[in-house]
Amino acid sequence: MSQLTVGAGGPLRGRVQVPGDKSISHRALLLGAIAEGASRVENFLPGADCLATLRAVQALGVEIDQRAPTTLVIHGQGLHGLREPDDVLDCGGSGTTMRLLAGLLAGQPFISVLTGNAQLRRRPMGRVVEPLQRMGATVLGRQGGRRPPLAFQGGHLRGIDYALPVASAQVKSALLLAGLYADGPTTLHEPGPARDHTERMLSAMGGRLQMADGRLQIADGRLQIEPGERLQALDVTIPGDFSSAAFLVVAATLVPESKITVADVGINPTRTGLLDVLRAMGADLTLQDERTLSGEPVADLTVRSSDLQGVEVGGRRVVRAIDEFPILAVAATQAQGETIVRDAAELRVKETDRIATTVQELRHLGAEVAPRPDGLVVHGPTPLRGCAVHSHGDHRLAMALAVAGLVAEGQTLVQDVDCIADSFPGFEVTLAHLTGGE
Ligand code: S3P
Repeated sequence: MSQLTVGAGGPLRGRVQVPGDKSISHRALLLGAIAEGASRVENFLPGADCLATLRAVQALGVEIDQRAPTTLVIHGQGLHGLREPDDVLDCGGSGTTMRLLAGLLAGQPFISVLTGNAQLRRRPMGRVVEPLQRMGATVLGRQGGRRPPLAFQGGHLRGIDYALPVASAQVKSALLLAGLYADGPTTLHEPGPARDHTERMLSAMGGRLQMADGRLQIADGRLQIEPGERLQALDVTIPGDFSSAAFLVVAATLVPESKITVADVGINPTRTGLLDVLRAMGADLTLQDERTLSGEPVADLTVRSSDLQGVEVGGRRVVRAIDEFPILAVAATQAQGETIVRDAAELRVKETDRIATTVQELRHLGAEVAPRPDGLVVHGPTPLRGCAVHSHGDHRLAMALAVAGLVAEGQTLVQDVDCIADSFPGFEVTLAHLTGGE
């Protein structure tokens, strides 16, 4: 188990890129697998989670040439060309792999089984299993389908009209994939604007998708997908992952005299809730050269250090920043006043219970932070004191703690940091580069 030592240092300076977007990398693999012909993917994220999806797709009979770590050619088999895997499919620690594959496998006329590591086997799957069963799929899992492993005997799905009980892009995407295989339209009602990468990619490939209240807009939406006839292969260049950039953005905001630019980063509005929150706290953030890359908005994001004020975050903004709460909590420890996060109970079922683990580890560093059933409260500013902290095997917590180490007095030792490679291979090198340590 590796460790990362971070010391309080000088300003962050320079221009960097972050690795490709994790969510879009998963979708490129899964949709490329069922398209007709070859899809070329540039800037694929070769992190552990996306590699689990890659291996699963190969096990379903799809040939993939990995021409470089970040360049793939996926030889799509068409909607009905996947084959029964010889063995159980291992999703590692990746919830996106398991939930999106669940939707795809529900529509296949063969037997398949999904499992994962101990962390993933604790996460809730009823949210995908229950609607897939309503569509007519045979799905079995531990605890009545609520926990992995999951077993599928797919095929013969019917379209349903379904209101998602939680705003979840994984559930929405699973049902859109299953909807391609249904005998009629599938209509989904979203309680909040979860990331829309699946919708964007599916429409670009010729999927018949409608949003009643205007396509690709942030609105509580009704979303309808028609059964698929064929999806066209698509060449995509994946933007930098905003959720990875978030760690650098907060680091540069907190460390005085910093100025960095994160180039070519995705700014899809369903992902950038943290920008709105940080701006409300007083952060100095500028977007330049806004453009569209393979159907996704991207820009160069420049960050200058600034003083922050506490803020309240709840309601619709939460899902647009759902992966950013560990790093937001770090920012809040240095902000003047109280930061309150509410309506974020989903954080309890991420890679770890991110309310509990974030509170526990930030307290070790001296932060004044308290849990709430659906969020947390931070009082700031508090000087942090470097010490040994633990990632709990959660990549986003590991990186948030490393950023906390940049503003803590003395040295911070983040333990168990191998998980950082789940989403941000090269994080340590990028941080060292920006802090002049390389
Ligand atoms: C993801 C959706 C989100 C997010 C996860 C990636 C996706 O999960 O937290 O990191 O790629 O669809 P939920 O759908 O559970 O909110």
